[in-house]
Amino acid sequence: MVVVPAHHPSLITAHLLLSMSACRPILKVPPMHHPTTPEANIPAERRPGHWVLAELGKKVLRPGGKELTETLIAALPLRGADVVEFAPGMGMTAGLLLAQQPATYTGVDRDETAVKTVTAAAAGAIPVTVKQASADATGLAAESADVVIGEAMLTMNNDKQKQAIMQEAFRVLRPGGRYAIHELSMVPDSVDDSVKTQLTKSLAQAIRVNARPLTHAEWKHLAESVGFHVVGEYSKPMALLEPRRMIADEGLRGMATIAKNLLTKPALRRRVLTMRSTFRTHRDHLGAIGLVLEKPATT
Ligand SMILES: C[S@@+](CC[C@H](N)C(=O)[O-])C[C@H]1O[C@@H](n2cnc3c(N)ncnc32)[C@H](O)[C@@H]1O
Repeated sequence: MVVVPAHHPSLITAHLLLSMSACRPILKVPPMHHPTTPEANIPAERRPGHWVLAELGKKVLRPGGKELTETLIAALPLRGADVVEFAPGMGMTAGLLLAQQPATYTGVDRDETAVKTVTAAAAGAIPVTVKQASADATGLAAESADVVIGEAMLTMNNDKQKQAIMQEAFRVLRPGGRYAIHELSMVPDSVDDSVKTQLTKSLAQAIRVNARPLTHAEWKHLAESVGFHVVGEYSKPMALLEPRRMIADEGLRGMATIAKNLLTKPALRRRVLTMRSTFRTHRDHLGAIGLVLEKPATT
């Protein structure tokens, strides 16, 4: 666990910046264009929240942070395996997976810029393929992978697509293969329908993505309905934009980059403030879930 002293300069800078009034620009600096960030052509107010964070320099875009990713990775038989990642995004997990020396790595993302970014970042000794496709129709051969992993991507797909993506993971895996997911969850399982509706609406407004998190019971039920056995279940608080989690995820250097970008990009800073305030308002009902699922050895 990374323990950061409360008085560390990066923590204080980021906290101060995020605490300042959203309406009071602190510097008049023209917005910079970063063509390497997906959907950078969409105005800041309407851009999907995860790409706003990516443009600010945030690399970890999943709700349970790097720690939950590492927990999932430890539960997967990666060495010498054929590994498929659904929605690698900016390639953060791809790097962690490749460090485990799989036989092959295949990324599947529907975003063209993400595909280019991961292709460039993952090039090395291990055979890497990154293709642009939807995770519910990858075009990959049946029973061609030992491991599939997908983070922070099922939540942004509707119920039908969630199921289709899980079915695709099941199809692509060899018998006995493992599928790890890391997603936003609603807590507790007994959460009221009116809270679910309000939460979904607030998230859509704040992150500009139709995010539809499920409860832990619903995530597990979905996986089991497709044929998977749940072999590992983990949860974490949803603390994506809390300074302490950000330091743990991005490191002090990454945090300094984000702090600088928050300072010079007021439109993006306003978006981050809105997202963080929404996450805080709903903190009692938001969480992160990690599941390790196994395709039965005989089907
Ligand atoms: C929030 S980002 C997460 C990226 C990365 N997994 C991470 O955790 O840092 C969501 C990513 O999912 C991709 N995505 C969402 N739905 C998808 C789908 N149905 N098929 C392929 N990619 C998808 C987006 O293009 C984007 O790269």
